[in-house]
Amino acid sequence: MAGIKLVDIHKEYLVEDRRIQVLKGISLEIPENQITVILGRSGCGKTTLLRLTGGLEQADSGEILHGDSHRTAFVFQEPRLMPWLNVWGNVTFGLNRHEQDRDRTKDIIAAVGLNGFEKAYPSQLSGGMQQRAAIARALAYRPSFIMMDEPFAALDYFTREQMQKELQRVQEKRRSSILFVTHSIDEALLLGHKIVIIEEGLVKAYMRFQSREGSGICWRNGLFI
Ligand SMILES: Nc1ncnc2c1ncn2[C@@H]1O[C@H](COP(=O)(O)OP(=O)(O)OP(=O)(O)O)[C@@H](O)[C@H]1O
Ligand SMILES: [Mg+2]
Repeated sequence: MAGIKLVDIHKEYLVEDRRIQVLKGISLEIPENQITVILGRSGCGKTTLLRLTGGLEQADSGEILHGDSHRTAFVFQEPRLMPWLNVWGNVTFGLNRHEQDRDRTKDIIAAVGLNGFEKAYPSQLSGGMQQRAAIARALAYRPSFIMMDEPFAALDYFTREQMQKELQRVQEKRRSSILFVTHSIDEALLLGHKIVIIEEGLVKAYMRFQSREGSGICWRNGLFI
């Protein structure tokens, strides 16, 4: 199997004495080499779904089936770089000695537009540049999947637009497999090969595009439309 398959995922949290049922039976296929977007309002369980899929948390029931390789990298809303390491050190962080490859690291840093900044420390970079370094770190890890949780939410409008285009370009070039969480419909439509809409703990609808220009299929409430 290629990609990731979620089968009937349930997750609830206990807060004080109250049970919060966050995911109530999510089934979903996340193909490889594409961007799958999870879209939904604040609090609907997007981050929870991403964390479960990436293995940071356990579901209460259901199954998560991974393809042959199961190596995930995360990009969060904030860059979470190591302040004492420069860009090069941050990008190669998490790789052991055998996995480090100078040319490949250079390529990845160039792909996110940070060539010339290899020796800069996070405090010497703008917010957008730091987030690009975080994306480079995720790519360098050779993940089978990259989990991105609203990675551009903290950026201003112009930087966000630029970053979305850069992500699209890098994804197309490297054919990365990405699960991308957002609550922005515009961002979902721009980036997603497949868009999954979550509402009240369930998959409300999904759209799959054959091409970025728009042709595709749409499923809603059990019907293909
Ligand atoms: N560790 C936790 N303990 C208790 N409740 C939690 C925990 N994590 C999430 N929740 C609850 O689960 C629900 C979904 O949270 P989640 O963070 O997945 O939402 P989200 O869709 O990512 O929202 P946002 O768009 O605001 O980031 C919320 O009601 C939240 O309070
Ligand atoms: Mg969230």
